[in-house]
Amino acid sequence: MSAQAVTGAASTAVDEVPQPTGEGAPLLTVENLVKYFPVLGGVLRRKVADVKAVDGVSFTVRRGEVFGLVGESGCGKTTLGRSLLYLQRPTGGRVVLEGDDLSTLKPEQLRRMRGRMQLIFQDPYGSLNPRMPVLDIIGEGLLAQGVKDSRERTKRVEDSLEAVGLRRDYTRRYPHEFSGGQRQRIGIARALALRPDFIVCDEPVSALDVSIQSQILNLLLDLRRDFGFTYLFIAHNLSVVQYISDRVGVMYLGRMVELAPVEELYEHPRHPYTVALLSAVPEVDRARARRRIVLRGDVPSPVNPPSGCHFHPRCWLRERLGNPEICSTVDPRLAIVGPGHAAACHFADRTQQEQERVAAPVVAAGAAPSA
Ligand SMILES: Nc1ncnc2c1ncn2[C@@H]1O[C@H](COP(=O)(O)OP(=O)(O)OP(=O)(O)O)[C@@H](O)[C@H]1O
Ligand code: SF4
Ligand SMILES: [Mg+2]
Repeated sequence: MSAQAVTGAASTAVDEVPQPTGEGAPLLTVENLVKYFPVLGGVLRRKVADVKAVDGVSFTVRRGEVFGLVGESGCGKTTLGRSLLYLQRPTGGRVVLEGDDLSTLKPEQLRRMRGRMQLIFQDPYGSLNPRMPVLDIIGEGLLAQGVKDSRERTKRVEDSLEAVGLRRDYTRRYPHEFSGGQRQRIGIARALALRPDFIVCDEPVSALDVSIQSQILNLLLDLRRDFGFTYLFIAHNLSVVQYISDRVGVMYLGRMVELAPVEELYEHPRHPYTVALLSAVPEVDRARARRRIVLRGDVPSPVNPPSGCHFHPRCWLRERLGNPEICSTVDPRLAIVGPGHAAACHFADRTQQEQERVAAPVVAAGAAPSA
């Protein structure tokens, strides 16, 4: 597997990023994407530090693929999604959509490109303007993309409503006249009206009832089949990500720490952080449930991440291996560990063996994982 050479402010070494497998040409390539937010301080409100929200992330998504993105709250998932859509300008790195490097586009070209890349939000109510009827909510994106004829616009709005399982005559209704699930369908209709190539779905089902969640997930999969959409699917819920994704990336403190095809990641995780995340998923299988690993403490601040491996203060594997010095001194980069599978851990070859030995019952929050 060839390594993709990526360079940037945050990199101390080069990540090895596995190429997507399966059918479909690469659609989106993200190379060493960086997004820092300035922290202002002092009387003069000068920049005193950076929030390293996304700190050198690289991956490729092929056309028609669902790329899942997981990680604890604050690890940079939303910032990554918004930065690669150029809704906020990245601090560094490249985003390439079918050969077009977004950083080189002029504002007008970028505006047109935005029609090809859409965002579905978590909060189906907050993301819809309560004072606008559905016709205008969905129609304004079409207008911005140059669909000036109002009859054509109305037809495309109605077609989009129908495609997401809503009635064509809902165009005159306002957001408060819909249920949460229906509002999320309107959010999806707004995205698909532009027939985009690529859609970032940022926690699109987290705010919905469990019974509605599966309807929306199946709708997204149906739309992929019918329109050939490609998704970056962000979620906390690992079961949801497992259901919908072809490949999954795991983020920790602004970095991608593991990336693999979905079955491979769930069956053979190689990063200790992924192991801990997966062990927290409720399991019918009692044997798996007994091996739960609860991470110590909170996620460290992205303003001042820990030295070496950012995960080292919370890492159960490091502890099992007797706290090797390299973990706190050398930052591990993503490296290929199997077909289509990469992990950023100096001891990724020991994870599975040691995981088997962590045969303890559930560890109380705040306590050290048992040896
Ligand atoms: N506009 C901003 N200004 C300053 N810091 C920000 C800004 N947006 C995000 N951050 C910080 O960047 C980090 C990543 O935030 P982000 O919202 O991307 O995380 P997330 O993984 O999407 O979290 P969640 O799962 O809770 O949605 C956090 O520390 C957050 O506080
Ligand atoms: S490099 Fe060390 S601290 Fe980091 S995940 Fe691997 S074992 Fe844990
Ligand atoms: Mg988020």
